[in-house]
Amino acid sequence: MPEWIPVAEAADCPPGTSIERLAGDRMVAIANVDGTLHAIDGLCPHQGGPLGTGSLCGAVLTCPWHGWPFDVTTGRHQVSATVRQPVFGVRLRDGVIEVNLRGTAPEAST
Ligand code: FES
Repeated sequence: MPEWIPVAEAADCPPGTSIERLAGDRMVAIANVDGTLHAIDGLCPHQGGPLGTGSLCGAVLTCPWHGWPFDVTTGRHQVSATVRQPVFGVRLRDGVIEVNLRGTAPEAST
């Protein structure tokens, strides 16, 4: 599997939105916070909800199923300090959003 996996066009995730994409065998939630992309594990640790289809308010992405909120910049749950989603590297190359499942490279600007 390549280190950087193309998952979406930049236009698919404009500022203030999030999307759900498959990167290899991992579901990834990609969020655009004021023009900066972030990527976290897309399966909610509560019951497997699709985080990428949740609502994004600032840097907080809220799961659409039962409302667990996560900071997409750190992966941290906003209520429980013991819950944290894996954070992935994300970058923009020639208008394509790429995710690195092994890295936590700095976020990319759109
Ligand atoms: S599955 Fe995400 S809050 Fe329940």
